[in-house]
Amino acid sequence: MSTTNSIINQNILILGTGAVGQALAGKLLSLGHQVNIGTRNVKESLSRTEKDNWGNSGIGLWIKENPTANLINFDDIGRGFDLIINALSGQAVLSVLSGISTEVLDNKIMIDISNPLDFSKGFPPSLSICNDTSLGEQIQAEFPFLKIVKALNTISNPIMVNPKLLEGDHTVFVSGNEADAKSFVSLMLKSFGWEESQIFDLGDITTCRGTEMFLPLWVRMFGKLGSPIFNINVNSKSK
Ligand SMILES: NC(=O)c1ccc[n+]([C@@H]2O[C@H](COP(=O)([O-])OP(=O)(O)OC[C@H]3O[C@@H](n4cnc5c(N)ncnc54)[C@H](OP(=O)(O)O)[C@@H]3O)[C@@H](O)[C@H]2O)c1
Repeated sequence: MSTTNSIINQNILILGTGAVGQALAGKLLSLGHQVNIGTRNVKESLSRTEKDNWGNSGIGLWIKENPTANLINFDDIGRGFDLIINALSGQAVLSVLSGISTEVLDNKIMIDISNPLDFSKGFPPSLSICNDTSLGEQIQAEFPFLKIVKALNTISNPIMVNPKLLEGDHTVFVSGNEADAKSFVSLMLKSFGWEESQIFDLGDITTCRGTEMFLPLWVRMFGKLGSPIFNINVNSKSK
């Protein structure tokens, strides 16, 4: 249920058990939402207790620490979610979504955080999709019944859910074809701590070409700074 000023008690499906899935899941639980996390194999995921590159618990340990979250196989995902968050590896998004029933996805808002990063040749990654298209557009084209809102993909996961980690102004971009869906996602971002003035609606879904193609610069800044805790600020008189 949502009001004009807040979003409360949503039943949310997060696709992805990595650092992003965990960060979003933890924040959404703390805000009182119901959280379901999709994975390939629940049993195998529960056995993952090693720390990842971000120092996060493996998803198995995370679920033990957050027992109210529901871990679910992609193959077993049923209907009834208010919101879907795509926190999948960019290389896996289209195939995972193809395996989920159309009834589950129909008319749903999906916050798409994924990036088309290709690590097959090591670090830094290249983009497997770019220039005159984007992963966000490809998802929207293949699943026209979804309302895709690309957001948060230019920001490291700790900042996504805690923008006050950085002092001063910094920017989160939003792209999507549906104004209502973008308004809903902006409300959700505000519930995470983002200010209205920090949310930059770039326009339709084609505009996420720009945010996805920002990633090569993001990884170079990460290399230089030695930490993912940074973001950029768009400073303009006309913003
Ligand atoms: N890390 C960040 O701070 C950050 C910031 C901005 C954007 N992003 C983007 O957010 C997305 C998630 O990033 P992440 O670092 O949390 O995790 P990730 O390692 O990129 O992705 C993890 C998820 O992808 C699934 N997956 C991987 N390969 C798969 C395959 N072949 N088939 C099906 N599913 C597969 C995993 O499934 P299992 O659960 O079965 O293992 C897992 O749920 C990425 O697209 C990334 O570019 C990340």
